Amino acid sequence: MTNILVTGGAGYIGSHACKSLRAAGYTPVTYDNLCTGWKEAVKFGPFEQGDLRDADRLAEVFAKHQPSAVMHFAALSQVGESMRNPGIYWDNNVSGSATLLQAAVDAGCLDIVFSSTCATYGDQDNVVLDEDCAQHPINAYGASKRAIEDMLENFEAAYGMRSVIFRYFNVAGADPEAEVGEFHQPETHLIPLVLDAVDGKRDALTIFGTDYDTPDGTCIRDYVHVMDLVGAHVLGLKWLEDKRGSRVFNLGTGSGFTVREVIDHARDVTGREVPVTEGERRPGDCTKLVSGSTRAKAELGWEPARSTLGEMIADAWRWHQTGHYDK
Ligand code: UFG
Repeated sequence: MTNILVTGGAGYIGSHACKSLRAAGYTPVTYDNLCTGWKEAVKFGPFEQGDLRDADRLAEVFAKHQPSAVMHFAALSQVGESMRNPGIYWDNNVSGSATLLQAAVDAGCLDIVFSSTCATYGDQDNVVLDEDCAQHPINAYGASKRAIEDMLENFEAAYGMRSVIFRYFNVAGADPEAEVGEFHQPETHLIPLVLDAVDGKRDALTIFGTDYDTPDGTCIRDYVHVMDLVGAHVLGLKWLEDKRGSRVFNLGTGSGFTVREVIDHARDVTGREVPVTEGERRPGDCTKLVSGSTRAKAELGWEPARSTLGEMIADAWRWHQTGHYDK
């Protein structure tokens, strides 16, 4: 079977990608330092513990598994933390990616699927963000991902490395079979926090800012189901295998929901009240991030099948009730 090196395969999105890769007939080889990932989430292929910045360890893993391509998820990914402590984002995400790309080139592995973010676009007036929009990130996390996108361009010019870059909007939900799911420590993402508030694991969900220029004053995000998102990655891999060249794709649904709308849906799905308090804006948050997702559909044939807010919350709720790794 064809091996794919999955950096960050023990994390939320990486572990779901491993499940999809396995189902598509690949062997996902997880490379993860477990700084935010979970060993228990590595269920679909071999595990190699290691850090992105460790060139010797990477060389060893490339030599052992001879992957045909890399899926690069490993990154620090909290917007708020990146504003308080930007250095670790440039070190782990940017330096780490430089070390990874060099190791891949040295091993003759020139196909890479890269996990980027709509946070690279920043706060724009555009109603819908498409792939050609200018990138002006307003937080260090987005800046680190944009830098890696630039790095990929340089590696293509120098070594012929080919990349499919996916700019994610807000990834949500969980494997419907609850083999893997979303579990961050600490948790900062809206939907798992809402579910914690629903079942009393926290007192209330704090809404970060109610004075944004949106219909109900709370931020708008475009939520995409993690299974749909990782399905696009398998299509991206096939795109590279077919030698169709480097390409950037947004992954979102094109529909935006406010924080209050997410809370309302959570109440409907769980049948329980969501205790809420209203708080200050969170630094680094954009008012509205909604994808123009037509390119992935038109060129990759991507069809999100589970990305209604109701389904995402229902799958997240199932996982929340059954699946945490620390149990
Ligand atoms: N929010 C709250 N209260 C909370 C947590 C979040 O009101 O306790 C709000 C945020 O202010 C934001 C929305 O819910 O308006 C979504 O917040 P998340 O933290 O779930 O997601 P972000 O939009 O901040 O960030 C996520 C990923 C990033 C990625 C970004 C792109 O964490 O990696 O989406 O939009 F870059």
